[in-house]
Amino acid sequence: MDNRFLRCIGCGKKFPENEIIYACPKCGNLLDVILPLDEMDPKILRKAFDTRPLSVWRYKELLPRMGSRKPVSLNEGGTPLHRCSRLGERIGAKNLYIKFEGMNPTGSFKDRGMTVGVTKARDLKVKTVVCASTGNTSASLAAYSSLARLKCIVMIPSGMIALGKLSQAMMHGARVFAVKGNFDDAFDLVMKSSRELGLYVLNSVNPFRPEGQKTAAFEICDQLGCAPDSLVIPVGNGGNNAAYWKGFSEFKDLGLSRSSPRIYGIQAEGAAPIARAFAKKANKIVPVKDPNTIATAIKIGNPANWLKTINAIRSSKGTSIAVPDEEIISAQKMIAQMEGLFVEPAAAASIAGLIRLLDAGEVDKREKIVCIATGHGLKDPDAAIRVSKKPIEIEPSMKSLRAALRN
Ligand code: F0G
Repeated sequence: MDNRFLRCIGCGKKFPENEIIYACPKCGNLLDVILPLDEMDPKILRKAFDTRPLSVWRYKELLPRMGSRKPVSLNEGGTPLHRCSRLGERIGAKNLYIKFEGMNPTGSFKDRGMTVGVTKARDLKVKTVVCASTGNTSASLAAYSSLARLKCIVMIPSGMIALGKLSQAMMHGARVFAVKGNFDDAFDLVMKSSRELGLYVLNSVNPFRPEGQKTAAFEICDQLGCAPDSLVIPVGNGGNNAAYWKGFSEFKDLGLSRSSPRIYGIQAEGAAPIARAFAKKANKIVPVKDPNTIATAIKIGNPANWLKTINAIRSSKGTSIAVPDEEIISAQKMIAQMEGLFVEPAAAASIAGLIRLLDAGEVDKREKIVCIATGHGLKDPDAAIRVSKKPIEIEPSMKSLRAALRN
């Protein structure tokens, strides 16, 4: 076996890096990419990173190998880490930051994973890629596969994804199938289609996608000059928080950072199998049959990455909690109106969760806290309009304006 390989997170069985495989045939668990960290020289890595701009490919030595091909890239990553003093003061956090992943090329963190996953797909010479999606994955895959000239099929829960995301998948020329069911039904169909039709799956069960997503953790360490104490992140299918944990752990193991944060995974109350497992101290999830939340991006009842998520959050000494939709909406407004950042509801769940964690004394107000804003607010204009004050119609006259201003 090469010194880079895939390893089952359950039984530890190893597979070559270039095998097309999503789950262990022996025990059914997902796979992780394992890197030969002990053969790497952190000083050489640090020097190499520092010659490149903040981005996913800045960290290419820690990413899967891609043959001789150039990455399929839209310049993803390098997203801003905003110091949020005003919001922090309001909610009682002295050192609060928001990493705004909505500033990626298609407006969500998915682009970090897709630049790696789609480059790998081209490397593996696949012709057609597929994903199930609550919206952002499909938007990102559609964009990157058009750039890579791959055929792209996306399966979305019919009538349940935000307008901005749907319009992206359509405009980038993906074949869009609206599955009569929820995300979990669409995901099952995707996995069947990969087995029976040989389509290449770019959901987060693909081991290469989280490799791209983990670069956000590297960026945070480089932007802050250290790892934060706590990282608060929304959880849907469960891939992203585990990717962050892998990133923070690799930087620490290499000596590129001194510590790693506690990870707090936030779910919406109507779609919270992972938070419930933590509340019950269980080692397994009980899937939610009819998930429901305004945060459609994380409206998932049976997360494929549940074990990776539980392992990541437990290893980090964090926890997972759920927040109701009203608190998500209120957090979305606070972020928009106090910090000027327009984030989608799922992204706002991180701040809603942090407020609860601070109130419960789980997170201390003096800690360095980073909340991940996973997607841009423009993705879901309907949700924003529904919860905001309506525009006031006036005549084009000063009289009408004055009267309206008085009210
Ligand atoms: N935030 C946003 C904006 C998302 O789109 C997603 C997932 C998450 C958080 C949760 O990340 O699944 O890795 O735990 N969206 C997927 C999609 C499911 O299809 O776009 P996760």
